[in-house]
Amino acid sequence: MDKQSVRDIDVDGRKVLVRVDFNVPVRKGRVTDDTRIERALPTIELLVARGAKVGLISHLGRPKGAPDAKFSMDPVAKRLGELLGKHVEKLDTATGDEVTAALDRTDNSVVLLENSRFYPGETKNDAGFADELAAPFDLYVNDAFGAAHRAHATTVGVAKRLPAAAGLLLEKEVDYLDGVLKDPERPFVAILGGAKVSDKLGVIESLLGVADSLLIGGAMCFTFFKAKGYSVGKSLVEDDYVEEAKRLMEKAGEKLVLPVDVVAAEEFEHDARHETARPGDGVPQGWMGLDVGPETVELFSGTITSARTIFWNGPMGVFEMEAFAKGTEGVAKAVAASEATSVVGGGDSVAAVNKLGLEGEMSHISTGGGASLEYVEGKELPGVAVLPAK
Ligand code: 3PG
Repeated sequence: MDKQSVRDIDVDGRKVLVRVDFNVPVRKGRVTDDTRIERALPTIELLVARGAKVGLISHLGRPKGAPDAKFSMDPVAKRLGELLGKHVEKLDTATGDEVTAALDRTDNSVVLLENSRFYPGETKNDAGFADELAAPFDLYVNDAFGAAHRAHATTVGVAKRLPAAAGLLLEKEVDYLDGVLKDPERPFVAILGGAKVSDKLGVIESLLGVADSLLIGGAMCFTFFKAKGYSVGKSLVEDDYVEEAKRLMEKAGEKLVLPVDVVAAEEFEHDARHETARPGDGVPQGWMGLDVGPETVELFSGTITSARTIFWNGPMGVFEMEAFAKGTEGVAKAVAASEATSVVGGGDSVAAVNKLGLEGEMSHISTGGGASLEYVEGKELPGVAVLPAK
């Protein structure tokens, strides 16, 4: 990455504001998946070891610009303290003298500020709020890849007010995605799933330009099947995107690979009656496709096995329901077994990999859902663009 790095700045005795993405799932006051916290530890530990006084800031959920106990960072502070093995002081504010005082008394640990979205100025990237955020600090580090597609006060505004650098996680994320997009070892196989073509249009276009094969699963394949003139029963279809799907298939030719069989169910229920159907024969009237079928898993796995580079985003079916999880499981296992450089991006495919305990088998699992997709689409991420070059 060609940006100033946290490795290369002198932080000893300096107050450093670190933007992290601690937007993690919380249930009953406990963090239920701490991946994003864990992945920020290298930057935090490096800064503490080099004598910095560290203030961490993140958003959590989507509160409406005002304090809301449901979205307090308290559970995050607790989990972060456990992972760091030291007490983390959590403040009920993100600005003001209290922040300066807490940083002054912190010794060999970190201070966690309150949810940045408790302030209306955050999502508006308000200049006054960015000034207030920056005031107690000497330096700014952005390690929040997952939020880098947001032009907010904590990702962009404050970066313009303090000497800034990229954190280790942000660097790693960008380097892996650049490796896939700019100089992939071939064959490069991309796998896309998920519900909607409309969410992934830009990503499909971009991947068709660089990948050797693009395997498409998930509910979005039914929009493609409709474009082929197949009957899709009650499967999820975006009628407004059928023409677009046709255009993409024509443009891609053999590069774009669709499922050869699907698992169709009578209802959207975990115990629904279901059977395998061939798309060309049609999904039975009134039924819906909820997963890719076993022959598709075999077909996709064969392509995945021969790959040298893999990018995967989106599940192949409704993997939360056991009866419709086999497609996603099959693809996850094939990616895990492959010797290719494998990059997995996006919340649901990452959740599936974690559920199967295969995270250690992937080269890189992105902490960014929207951010990784926008990056693959070729969009500039504001939180990265604003950082100074090396
Ligand atoms: C995410 O979870 O993708 C990031 O934390 C960004 O969250 P947002 O979509 O609420 O901005």
